[in-house]
Amino acid sequence: MVCFLEDRAINLSTETQPPSVLKIWGETQLNGQVTISGAKNSALAIMAGTLLCADECRLRNIPSLVDINHMGDVLNSLGLKLNRNGDTLEINAQEITTSKPPYELVSRLRASFFVIGPLLARLGVARVPLPGGCAIGARPVDLHVRGLEAMGAKVRIEHGIVYADIPGSNNRLQGAEIYLDYPSVGATETILMAATLAEGETRIENAAREPEVVDLANFCIAMGAKIQGAGTNTITISGVKSLHSVDYPIIPDRIEAGTFLVAGAITHSEISLSPVVPEHLTPVIAKLRAMGVKIIADAPNCLSLIPGTLHGTDIETLPYPGFPTDMQAQLMALLALSEGDSVITETVFENRLRHVAEFKRMGADIRLKGQQAIIRGVSMLTGAPVVATDLRASAALVVAGLAAKGITTIQGLHHLDRGYDNLEDKLRGLGAKLQRVSIEETDLPAEELIEAEKR
Ligand code: EPZ
Repeated sequence: MVCFLEDRAINLSTETQPPSVLKIWGETQLNGQVTISGAKNSALAIMAGTLLCADECRLRNIPSLVDINHMGDVLNSLGLKLNRNGDTLEINAQEITTSKPPYELVSRLRASFFVIGPLLARLGVARVPLPGGCAIGARPVDLHVRGLEAMGAKVRIEHGIVYADIPGSNNRLQGAEIYLDYPSVGATETILMAATLAEGETRIENAAREPEVVDLANFCIAMGAKIQGAGTNTITISGVKSLHSVDYPIIPDRIEAGTFLVAGAITHSEISLSPVVPEHLTPVIAKLRAMGVKIIADAPNCLSLIPGTLHGTDIETLPYPGFPTDMQAQLMALLALSEGDSVITETVFENRLRHVAEFKRMGADIRLKGQQAIIRGVSMLTGAPVVATDLRASAALVVAGLAAKGITTIQGLHHLDRGYDNLEDKLRGLGAKLQRVSIEETDLPAEELIEAEKR
């Protein structure tokens, strides 16, 4: 992994380190207050958005994540100057030296594909490798491409590369009416960014309404873009000639916050978390309350949780403001220990139920039926060796391990490092006992493992 710092790339090669395992001692009680980091999916889109501005932008509240490092490497490869200082990231896109980020960087991070709209808007040309599918689905980009074509781009895909050009001499995309067959977050963000510098007005119908889309729109508006309707299903963008630098704070991560709410509920603990934007968590809070958990907004940008007896409920994942697919695995862990029967229906991604097999290894009673998981609550989960199958499933296995009887070991920690900022330290700060150890050490007793951490 290559990290970016000022103009120097520091090579922290993690590939040579021994694979590690997260060991969790179960039946944990948590207590205290946890700080929520900036939203990963906001930061990634906004980092791509800095390409729109031929000046320096300062982003605040940027989480420390592998995905952020990878996006930084992609922007570095395009000639941008990045300077990270704690949770502040300065990005200067005055000079873009190429329209083609290297395949090996784009293939590591799907969100890298978000650079295609800004590159096309700034340079009139983009050569972006197709992002790979991933554990949760094929993840096509047809809606991104069709939106750019509607705005006048000529797009062809050859040898896994998306070639996009603006024909003619004026090098500017044209405003267009675009209807999205599906309210895709990424496609909405690609089209929105491209439209900020287009000639004329662009209207996106059936747009995604996620808070991260709104945050991106607010970032672009702060740079001087003319955007209306972000957060509704119709977004209108009137193109301008150029955008100016801005100092912008990213919103808190609603999925990290939701994950901690589940950690508190599953361990029957009283915890509080901030900063949060409660309305970003409306569907998650509604479901947790329906299951018997008390959640109080007891101070501005703060939520407190008071545990209760958990009973089952049904969940269907949907585009925002429906229940977020990124919280599906975490709620499954909680429903596995709730009284009664529950059904989870995953409608957003075609392959996002692979964590069911891992929960069953811990004693959960879950049956798969197509895109549905039928869950019968059990009184106890038992610790077991499990493997993370995607980013959110890894966090779900952690919270299940906190509640399970005995020791859980989790492999596949690269998923966790992609999307959670210091999750283990934050959980230890609430009283959890968990330790990252090498595979050989997993038989050591707890105190020796804690010692291992200090070495
Ligand atoms: C964003 O992915 C998030 N990632 C995902 O978070 C999140 O799960 C997803 O939105 C849904 O909320 C980032 O923002 C970086 P989509 P994105 O386009 O933009 C289909 C996490 O764990 N589709 O809304 O890729 C697609 O196959 C990650 O943080 C097309 O068919 O999601 C999927 O079934 C996981 N054609 C559905 O739409 C397209 O051109 C939703 O995808 C684009 C998408």
